[in-house]
Amino acid sequence: MKNDIKNAPIGVFDSGIGGLTVAKELITALPGEDIIYLGDTARVPYGTKSGRTVIAYSHSNTEFLISKGIKLLVVACNTASSVSLPSLNSEFDIPVIGVIEPGAKKAVSVTKAGKIGVIGTPSTINSSAYKKAIEELNPSIEVISKPCPLFVPLADEGWTEGELVERIAEEYLSSIKDTGIDVLVLGCTHYPLLKHTIQKVMGEKITLVDSAKETAMEIKQALIRENLLNENSSSSNKEFYLTDVSDTFLSVAGRFLGEDIKKIEMVDIIGTTKVPSP
Ligand code: DGL
Repeated sequence: MKNDIKNAPIGVFDSGIGGLTVAKELITALPGEDIIYLGDTARVPYGTKSGRTVIAYSHSNTEFLISKGIKLLVVACNTASSVSLPSLNSEFDIPVIGVIEPGAKKAVSVTKAGKIGVIGTPSTINSSAYKKAIEELNPSIEVISKPCPLFVPLADEGWTEGELVERIAEEYLSSIKDTGIDVLVLGCTHYPLLKHTIQKVMGEKITLVDSAKETAMEIKQALIRENLLNENSSSSNKEFYLTDVSDTFLSVAGRFLGEDIKKIEMVDIIGTTKVPSP
């Protein structure tokens, strides 16, 4: 029985295609694991929506992935991780890993100044999830946060470098650049694509923490801890599901994943989602 579970896929969901940056790191860290990816492209963005809406969406995404027989759930979306993890953990009987804690842990281990910057979507920053996670690990660390909403459409458009992007990055980052931080957490699925520009604007002395990379390491540790590592597989199977498929999807998705996606399937989970009234 345990072997059946070990051979089961890892489920990953995101509000859209951004979570492919997490899938990419997961594939690198665990090349023998099967992956089922769900991108909620019909309802993206999550980053500007209310917590209760994002929680309802996260539940329907999780139900879909559990119906596919996954052994572990990865919430690749920073916004969904910020607001949905407690309710997913209490509702579903499956190990759940989000991107906040791994990013926070890394940042705390790297800072020498005791001051950490965090950038993310408005919902992630408003939730204070990174701030709380960092302060839980070390209450003496100061956290300076900043929402950078335009970074998401820029990465989607493939505008990740150049004068215009640098101007926007300067506008967002100038207020946290000179606060004495020595670490900046890229708290959004899309930001690793803008890494070069963000580093250029922040300067070489600031260490960037990529939550996607840290999460892949955390998943590996969790699989070992739970005795769920797939030991048999010499090659792996990857399935990609979306709640909406646009003409440009394949080229944009390839850029996020770093390899071509051959097959995607559209799923309809939207009708079953109930968002409670405020
Ligand atoms: N995936 C989201 C995140 O990491 C960014 C895109 C969105 O707003 O849905 O926060």
